[in-house]
Amino acid sequence: MKKNIAAVLLAAGKGTRMKSYLPKVVHEVCGLPLILHVIRQLKRHGIKKIVVVVGYGKDDVIARLASEGVEIVEQREQLGTGHALSVCEKNFKAFYGDILVLPGDVFIEKDSCIKTFCAFHAKRKNELSILTAALSDPKGYGRIIRGSEGTVTAIREELDATAAERAINEINTGIYLFKGANVFKALKKIKRNPTKKEYYLTDIVDIYVQDKKRVDGFTVERECAILGVNDRAQLADIHRILKAAILQKHQMNGVTILEPESTYIEVDVTIGADTVIYPYTYIEKNVTIGERCQIGPFCKVRSHSKVNDTSCIGSFVELVRSTVGKKTNIKHLSYIGDAVVGNKVNIGAGTITANYDGKNKNKTYIKDGAFIGSNSVLVAPVSIEEGAKTGAGSVVLSGRNVPRGKVVCGVPARIIK
Ligand code: UD1
Ligand code: CA
Repeated sequence: MKKNIAAVLLAAGKGTRMKSYLPKVVHEVCGLPLILHVIRQLKRHGIKKIVVVVGYGKDDVIARLASEGVEIVEQREQLGTGHALSVCEKNFKAFYGDILVLPGDVFIEKDSCIKTFCAFHAKRKNELSILTAALSDPKGYGRIIRGSEGTVTAIREELDATAAERAINEINTGIYLFKGANVFKALKKIKRNPTKKEYYLTDIVDIYVQDKKRVDGFTVERECAILGVNDRAQLADIHRILKAAILQKHQMNGVTILEPESTYIEVDVTIGADTVIYPYTYIEKNVTIGERCQIGPFCKVRSHSKVNDTSCIGSFVELVRSTVGKKTNIKHLSYIGDAVVGNKVNIGAGTITANYDGKNKNKTYIKDGAFIGSNSVLVAPVSIEEGAKTGAGSVVLSGRNVPRGKVVCGVPARIIK
């Protein structure tokens, strides 16, 4: 049987180097807060018990965790990573498995990293395993000090490191796996770091080593696989990696992306085979696009939109919270918001659904076979019934539904006899 593993995410810090009003872990990458990327990975690994330590900006963090089913613990004062872990002790009173500890500001490129790390820990029978990486530029990270037998004897923070220690390029990713709940006893022995006046979790290595407990480091293969996110430049780095992975997933599903460099697709997007994404396309999370569609160039498909098979969302079109049927063309210069558009609809250039009346967002229905003339404004709530047409420049007022098969034009639009 696979050993029971729980996870603790340390996310109480401010993230000073982000220069932000928001706590670091809620900064988004490809549409998802940093911390949720990690939580999703842990869940994919089968970890059910996840404890998140919050502190700075806790309301912002808790709001993002609302439907995640995680346990939340508050660290009232940010006294360091060691202290952050110690505040979770009560959550582990009745837990006898292993405890995986991760910083909330970490980016793990591949799920397989977690898997191999856990396997390493189990195989070596370590009391503490540390996930490490070899970086050409180790600046800012804690360095891994290994003893003559190759096991880890200490982790040295950059501020406390000697020049020789700084030259070490094996770094601490901040991911640890502890055997059992012994860790909380050891945490009590950590003293405040004299330089930063914090309780460093990394100092637990010295305590384990003194207690003759086996501490070992496992190095991930590739340099970019695990990154700490401390500033906006690192945020952009992981954005690049994640975006490339998302685009590649769609390509493997049969989607043509003509120019990946200028295409942005967030998480939780489904796209059918043989759809072609033209350059400068921006697709937000929670979007579904069918097969054989044409998307872009230069368009924005926003969250909660659905485009069915063989439709076209063309240049300078913005679609939001809208459904588009099959074989429908919205080829140029349109804003379609809170709309339900049927099959075989043609929407002329410059069409606007005026969905917002200053208080509420209202719905527009454009039913099967309707033809919307160029530069029409449809003031919601309104419905254009099956096969109806609006002439160029029509302004269809709210509530003035256009009956099936009728033609309207003018400002305000009236039925042509
Ligand atoms: C830490 C490690 C360092 C490692 C690096 C990896 C320590 C002392 N150092 O440094 O060896 O290379 O991570 O990225 O652990 N946090 C709390 N409460 C606190 C302090 C921090 O929850 O009181 C959280 C932060 O929100 C953050 C994580 O712990 O998510 C790491 O803290 P951070 O200050 O970023 O540590 P680093 O200096 O990056
Ligand atoms: Ca950090």
